[in-house]
Amino acid sequence: MSRAPVIILHQPKRLIVGAGTIAEVGNWAGEVFSTLVITTPITAGFADRLKLRGKVAVFDAISGEPDIATLHAALAAARSAKPDLVVGLGGGSVMDVAKLVAALWDGDQTLLDVAGPNKVAGRQTGLAQVATTAGTGSEAGIRSLITDPVKGNKIAVESPYLIADLAVLDPELTYSVPPAVTAATGVDAMAHCVEAFTNKRAHPMIDGFARMGFHLVGKYLARAVKDGSDREAREGLMLASYYGGICLGPVNTAAGHAIAYPLGTLLHLPHGLANAIVFPHVLGFNQPVAAEKTAEVAEALGLGTGLSQADLSGAAHAFCADLGIEMSLAKHGATETDLPRFASDAHSIRRLMDNNPVDMSVEDVLAIYRASF
Ligand SMILES: [Fe+2]
Repeated sequence: MSRAPVIILHQPKRLIVGAGTIAEVGNWAGEVFSTLVITTPITAGFADRLKLRGKVAVFDAISGEPDIATLHAALAAARSAKPDLVVGLGGGSVMDVAKLVAALWDGDQTLLDVAGPNKVAGRQTGLAQVATTAGTGSEAGIRSLITDPVKGNKIAVESPYLIADLAVLDPELTYSVPPAVTAATGVDAMAHCVEAFTNKRAHPMIDGFARMGFHLVGKYLARAVKDGSDREAREGLMLASYYGGICLGPVNTAAGHAIAYPLGTLLHLPHGLANAIVFPHVLGFNQPVAAEKTAEVAEALGLGTGLSQADLSGAAHAFCADLGIEMSLAKHGATETDLPRFASDAHSIRRLMDNNPVDMSVEDVLAIYRASF
């Protein structure tokens, strides 16, 4: 038996899971003098439910995936509020910004100073993450992704100083997430688990979290899409998202996410949707080299057993389409002439592509976009 690679796993200092637990944030924070809540115009409506005491400032100017300008605006809000505690109240975009604001607002480091692994100098400010979607699992981890709109790529910051002191998984906050977003973000959570599970750097312990995650998605995603207030299904998906977030830490994703990224940066598709569109094709592509693990995924999702590559991709495509996800790139506004640029961009994201169990050429990537077209 070959030795498993060494991994380091960071998790929030405290994790609270359950319906109604958003109110625990105030109890946990106690007599904090000043809090900055980072959120969106939609999720700002939950801010009262945090039951925070002391001075509370709200920064809600986060829409879509955060870029450098959004981060700078949030940092300016923090410099004026001088918070002892930053609360991220939202999905992955919000929580990624909250991480960097908590770590950078009172120091001299810029985003470029901290880009990459282990560059953040420290953090004085407390950080609580309250997830309002089940998908990114950002609350679980130490990575933050900020879009550079000029270069059209993502700046990844990774540091133990970005871990939450408190993470809250309250399924009630996801009841109002519309079916289409529930479906896409659920597939994203599943993709984190699957891409870590079949990863070149896979690790037996992370495999355990991955298994729990994709089994939960297989069991609950269709239920939550059908009935948004199905508490058991919503809670299952929040756990799946969290487990996916753990998978992102020491192992991370692979070709699926690399191929999804240009659809976000260039075509402006939401992250979950972009991942859902490419998921069936990457699952099929990787099947020959990750046969046993892929079979386990297929069974957990109810795709069938003993499937050929084509049947596997077809069944995974049907799984996503049955959730109501529009799976055609053309229907989302892509043109055939866009695809080569997408392919060369995706292929150059080596930090993820190099994790894929089988090497993909630019032509392989292009073929996946064509199949998704
Ligand atoms: Fe993702």
